[in-house]
Amino acid sequence: MAIHFENIKEHIGSRVSWDDRSDLFAPEAAKAIREKVAERTVLVFPELNLTDEEQLAITNAIGPKMRLTNTTNVQSNDEDVYQVTLDEKINPQPEYVLGTFFWHMDGITVDMPPPFATLLSCRIAPDKGGETEFASTYAAYAGLPEDEKQALEGLKAVHSVRASLSPIADAIPEKHRERVLGIGLVKEHPLVWTHDDGRKSMVIGTTADHIVGMDIPAGRAMLMRLQEWAAQPAYSLRHKWKKGDFVIWDNTGAMHRAIPYDKSTGRMMHRTSIAGAEAVAA
Ligand SMILES: [Fe+2]
Repeated sequence: MAIHFENIKEHIGSRVSWDDRSDLFAPEAAKAIREKVAERTVLVFPELNLTDEEQLAITNAIGPKMRLTNTTNVQSNDEDVYQVTLDEKINPQPEYVLGTFFWHMDGITVDMPPPFATLLSCRIAPDKGGETEFASTYAAYAGLPEDEKQALEGLKAVHSVRASLSPIADAIPEKHRERVLGIGLVKEHPLVWTHDDGRKSMVIGTTADHIVGMDIPAGRAMLMRLQEWAAQPAYSLRHKWKKGDFVIWDNTGAMHRAIPYDKSTGRMMHRTSIAGAEAVAA
């Protein structure tokens, strides 16, 4: 087996290459990939052109796979593959995808540990917009001045889909606005996540509505500043998709968002998810 990893930026991202495509499916590959995802946050496999079956095999080998969104897939044969598209003929809830234009973590408002990783295969690359950006909340936390780290200790934020969709709420047709905004649970999470291995990341993004026990304006300003801090170029990465690109990222230590794109580009991603092994803990 020969898989190679090359750093994209100092604090985030590795580009993956391989001698033989079958190397990626070898049993020892899953362990190497999982470790590298945790270390580098984002792995890019250029133009790998996975089938759904292959993507599920890799997902499960690193895995285990989980189903993050219950939906009816029109084109995919497997319910564990979610099609990220603005085409309402395929995705009956395009508003949910519009919410991805804003920094977020996946699966932070459901009643299970947040997914360890999200995996995307690009089926149709947009020629304009639609890049995905990633920001490492491990690196961003590590880079905070000590007094700011101390100020975050013990703080908790309240997360909801309603908060994450608030920038687009007015664009959701009124007849099903309340139903869409009511998706998921309202969850409290510590702002700083101390993982089982002792590393620390931040649980931030537009799902974070306010900070428990803090005035709403002061709490929101703090959340916004932390988002901006994590999104600075040193800790973030923008991926311009080519058809067939496959990307895995550590959802427990990163926020992500899509650069806005138009439905007419046909942008289509196939998404799978790997279950989280640990709940958010202070
Ligand atoms: Fe997402």
